[in-house]
Amino acid sequence: MESPFKSDVLKGKVALLTGGASGIGLEISTQFGKHGASVALMGRRKNVLDSAVNVLRSLGIRAIGLEGDVRKQEDAARVVDSTIKHFGRLDILVNAAAGNFLVEPENLSPNGFRTVMDIDSVGTFTMCHEALKYLKKGGPGKGPSCGGIILNISATLHYTASWYQIHVSAAKAAVDSITRSLALEWGTDYDIRVIGIAPGPISDTAGLSKLLPEEMRSSIEHMPRFKFGEKWDIAMAAVYLASDAGKFVNGTTVVVDGGHWLSRPRYISKEEVKKLSRVVERRSRITPTGVPSSKL
Ligand code: HXC
Repeated sequence: MESPFKSDVLKGKVALLTGGASGIGLEISTQFGKHGASVALMGRRKNVLDSAVNVLRSLGIRAIGLEGDVRKQEDAARVVDSTIKHFGRLDILVNAAAGNFLVEPENLSPNGFRTVMDIDSVGTFTMCHEALKYLKKGGPGKGPSCGGIILNISATLHYTASWYQIHVSAAKAAVDSITRSLALEWGTDYDIRVIGIAPGPISDTAGLSKLLPEEMRSSIEHMPRFKFGEKWDIAMAAVYLASDAGKFVNGTTVVVDGGHWLSRPRYISKEEVKKLSRVVERRSRITPTGVPSSKL
């Protein structure tokens, strides 16, 4: 779909995106590039990074891939430094890396809970922490009163409570809290805007195939607008927020979900969850979006 924004709204900007080589992260990388930004993609899998960078470069976008795990502080520091070495500045940090699986609390090990907290919440803070010296006003490429932007990809699960998502709900609640705290503290001291985006169910993503596998799609009937969103919807929100059009938006998390969270399906049986969770995990190891390879 064509963008409603001018193609130079992010001209000259450099963005670093965790999870930027797949799913929603890749669409944000693509749209940032199409609107003039250079992009550095961080991820754990070299083959996924390589193929994303190739696609972006074929569109004329300046892109690099940097291997790293947001759970490791040394990886975060190295990736941020490499972005500066390559592009000379950093204007936008997008924290899109996330982990998820369906599981009942009684069958979730503390290590499973910790794993998602480590990726989503601690990983987000670690990346912000390592990027601060480049994002703050007076950093490379910035004037004395012009800082960068942090976009944290969140969710709506924790606005109420969500079945089998205790770990992700806790992790995303922490992300929203990080967004508010940093907006207050770093907005005041360093002129950095910190904003969240909470996507609803988005077609063709790992999140949808994990949380709403095809076997459970009848629940779409509960949605007010009866349809899933597209990765494009999230990327357009990101372009708006990262551009000067969003200059007065700070410390909030923008929900982009078509109103879905207002009427989420309430229950699936524990038996179904047990069957589905591990199946979906196995499937997503074959293809990142969880679509069975036989259907591709
Ligand atoms: C129960 C599980 C489980 C499952 C893993 N664990 N999968 N428990 N049900 N389906 C437990 C393991 O048993 C282990 O605990 C612990 O979690 C760590 O598992 P590992 O496989 O060793 O971890 P790792 O290889 O680091 O993988 C992390 C992961 C994985 C999160 C589990 O799925 C992953 O890497 N995902 C990255 C991509 C991803 O999930 N993207 C989806 C984003 S969707 P024990 O105790 O056994 O050691 C998204 C949407 C947000 O974020 C919300 C939308 C509404």
